[in-house]
Amino acid sequence: MDSIRIRGGRPLSGEIPIGGAKNAALPLMAAGLLTEQRLVLSNVPRLADIKTMGALLSQHGIAVEKQDNAGRVLSLGGSITNTEAPYDIVRQMRASFLVLGPLMARVGEARVSLPGGCEIGARPVDLHIKGLEQMGARFDLQGGYIDGRVDGRLRGAKIVFPFVSVGATENLLMAASLAEGRTVLANAAREPEIGDLAVCLVAMGAQIEGIGSDTLTIEGVPALHGAEHSIIPDRIETGSYACAAAISGGSVFLRHARLEHLGATIRVMREAGVEVTEGDGGVMVRRLNGLHGADVMTEPYPGFPTDMQAQFMAMLSVAEGASMVTETIFENRFMHVPELNRMGARINVHGSSAIVRGVPSLSGAPVMASDLRASLSLILAGLAAKGETVVNRVYHLDRGYEAVEQKLAACGADIERVSR
Ligand code: EPZ
Repeated sequence: MDSIRIRGGRPLSGEIPIGGAKNAALPLMAAGLLTEQRLVLSNVPRLADIKTMGALLSQHGIAVEKQDNAGRVLSLGGSITNTEAPYDIVRQMRASFLVLGPLMARVGEARVSLPGGCEIGARPVDLHIKGLEQMGARFDLQGGYIDGRVDGRLRGAKIVFPFVSVGATENLLMAASLAEGRTVLANAAREPEIGDLAVCLVAMGAQIEGIGSDTLTIEGVPALHGAEHSIIPDRIETGSYACAAAISGGSVFLRHARLEHLGATIRVMREAGVEVTEGDGGVMVRRLNGLHGADVMTEPYPGFPTDMQAQFMAMLSVAEGASMVTETIFENRFMHVPELNRMGARINVHGSSAIVRGVPSLSGAPVMASDLRASLSLILAGLAAKGETVVNRVYHLDRGYEAVEQKLAACGADIERVSR
């Protein structure tokens, strides 16, 4: 199994290209199930999760074709020949559950494995199911699968989410696009990835109002058509490399990054003493002096993203003063803390909050990545640490970060992948 070896202590300097957003690409690929015609997606990141979604769509009957050598342009299309999303694929990637809404809307039936919990929390999917039930679907649970059926088309409904869910908003937005009549999604998630999905659905002929707000109104249409869509840059990859510039004491230009998607991430970054400016075609991040502690609480967008919490924790562990990091989205997203502490960080977890007392330096150690964002947090700690850090279980990393070691090495980091 591969690991990443880092020898810390070098300030980063240079440019890092930011790829297309994984969490936009996955629902956009699922949207390929909504039409017989071709959906051409560009700026697709090259990640293990994208391959997994491609495999899932293929077994539903969709032709997934690369339109360029690099595999950044994917064309999807075709008839649905199988409505089962098998356990073997869903257990690898929870986002597989996003095929439920499109399958129910397009062919009126689906058999999808329930994802179960994962490293960061229990992560139920009840809101997805209840929303589809309100639209006329019936579900049975059998052998770990939910079997869904609807007589005729799904019907529009007013769905008020009791709390914000990115995935449920996406699933129901896709389903509502092909439903009969009007659907209103209230207290919907507002993440930029949802805006990107909505823009693509509109290009496919969907009628959606309120894009970017917490109330989406969708007038269902009988059929959607093909379209071309370029995926937005990944705001979490951007934030992660901004932390790399900050923790290493360097300056990095994040090409293609968009400041307007980074809201609270940049606010906290600036509070911690990092300079962030919009440049021509990207964002410049520079650490001027020392880092200061800053408090962080994760919230749905436009609040501070849970997907940036672990990376900030690494950065704050070497900041001057104390920081309080509170996780409100997932109940078990502090798995990186004991690993950071093995590297000399001083972090105490109390329930859903962690107190980070800044230390002058970290020291390299072999560590174990528990999930995707925790992996990057350990790499960041390794960049700042004295000596050698080896991050094991990097298969998590490959699910969501493309060519991390090349991107960081190009800016002067001493980092390599070790294959065993
Ligand atoms: C998306 O997950 C992202 N994944 C996650 O990215 C991200 O951490 C998360 O949103 C929050 O921003 C993708 O976009 C593919 P939710 P999702 O539904 O949709 C609870 C990464 O590192 N909930 O917004 O699964 C749930 O348990 C990751 O790239 C229910 O209780 O997240 C959680 O506590 C991991 N019932 C909260 O809501 C439901 O039916 C928010 O989850 C649905 C969710």
